[in-house]
Amino acid sequence: MSRRSSLFSLLLVPPLAALLASPILRHQAQAETAGTPLARPAGYKPEKKVARMWDSKCATCHGEDGRGHTEQGKEMGIDDMTRAPYWKDVTVERARKSVLEGLKRTLNGKDQEMKPFGDRLTPQQVDALNLYAVSFFKK
Ligand code: HEC
Repeated sequence: MSRRSSLFSLLLVPPLAALLASPILRHQAQAETAGTPLARPAGYKPEKKVARMWDSKCATCHGEDGRGHTEQGKEMGIDDMTRAPYWKDVTVERARKSVLEGLKRTLNGKDQEMKPFGDRLTPQQVDALNLYAVSFFKK
């Protein structure tokens, strides 16, 4: 190895390697893909306050157990969150947007509406509630 290239590797390679392995770059790489699938984290145990928030703000439609067996759930034909198909194609970003901005559509002849929660919940609270929701589905 020439003197010059060994100097190069000594001075530049370690910081370059550190940069490539750094969370900053990995985070950027993730943000460029379409989204992070919303999934139950291993060993998930919800905080009590998240469960309470779910019961008070979300359960009127989705049910305390996520199955949507509520008056409004039946009226709107809300689907069962304990089953895998519910979560197909749902990313962290999409779920966050749906809850913050609300959702309105007609499905199988039924008008479905979730009011926006953006004025009452922070994106962090919404993410925590969505993890709680996806965890109704247990593989
Ligand atoms: C007024 C009724 C209502 C309330 C209250 C409600 N939702 Fe929904 N939600 C819906 C409807 C309707 C849908 C779409 C149909 C379905 O889920 O089958 C939906 C869909 C969702 C989805 C899937 C979104 C997507 O993009 O596929 C998530 C996640 C969700 N709700 C979370 C929540 C959370 C968290 C709360 C409480 C902060 C909440 N919901 C409160 C009615 C409601």
